[in-house]
Amino acid sequence: MPAPAARFIVGNWKMNGLSAEISEAAALADSLKDEPSPHRVGLCPPATLVERMARKLAGTAVEVGGQDCHGSASGAFTGDVSAEMLKEAGASLVILGHSERRAYHNETDAEVAAKVEAALRAGLEPIICVGETLDERKAGKTLAIVRGQIAGSLPTSLSGKAFALAYEPVWAIGTGLTPTLEEIEEVHREIRAAMKAQLGASGATAPILYGGSVKPSNAADILALAEVGGALVGGASLKADDFLPIVRAG
Ligand code: 13P
Repeated sequence: MPAPAARFIVGNWKMNGLSAEISEAAALADSLKDEPSPHRVGLCPPATLVERMARKLAGTAVEVGGQDCHGSASGAFTGDVSAEMLKEAGASLVILGHSERRAYHNETDAEVAAKVEAALRAGLEPIICVGETLDERKAGKTLAIVRGQIAGSLPTSLSGKAFALAYEPVWAIGTGLTPTLEEIEEVHREIRAAMKAQLGASGATAPILYGGSVKPSNAADILALAEVGGALVGGASLKADDFLPIVRAG
């Protein structure tokens, strides 16, 4: 029997975590050392913890990422962090275009695309998020919204580069609600077709992660779906005891 395809399981800590929580990342890496996983595992802590987490996890299987970056390498952008800064701090990944950035910081598709360019320039692997709101889903616009976000947020320079796309329905984030398995599969198939048409070979192979209320109890079913190449996990990634079963479910 062929080995199951490796999945990419990424934790997004959002604005959670002080120094003490680095121990959760260390516990995760320790457990994975004892039970080597075929899957790629990443953690994206707040910017203040990236460097310390990267030091703590150096030499382990767990990759570290940022949650956003600016489109410029440096400059008068108070409060922002550049891709180069994340890279120097030890990150290898960066989440871009998360719906919380799009909603609370008014990020447009064009800005997300500029951030993707910045990430690639700095040598970070972007994880680009798309997803519809509840109103958009109810109006039957899910596929059109996601197609539009892909067209606008994925620059052609991604061609030939390592990246991941995350489908995160806004209404499923932090709510305990998820689309049905059929609905997830439908959107992932559409995303695959759109990425292939736009980016060729890289669009055909980049993993498409599902995000939105992924928990130990639903992870196996979601990760078994066609075109689901992993998960982007919020709340359930904060504790190693919750995140580990999701990694194992891959
Ligand atoms: P939850 O897993 O808490 O629903 O968050 C999902 C998410 O936004 C990950 O980026």
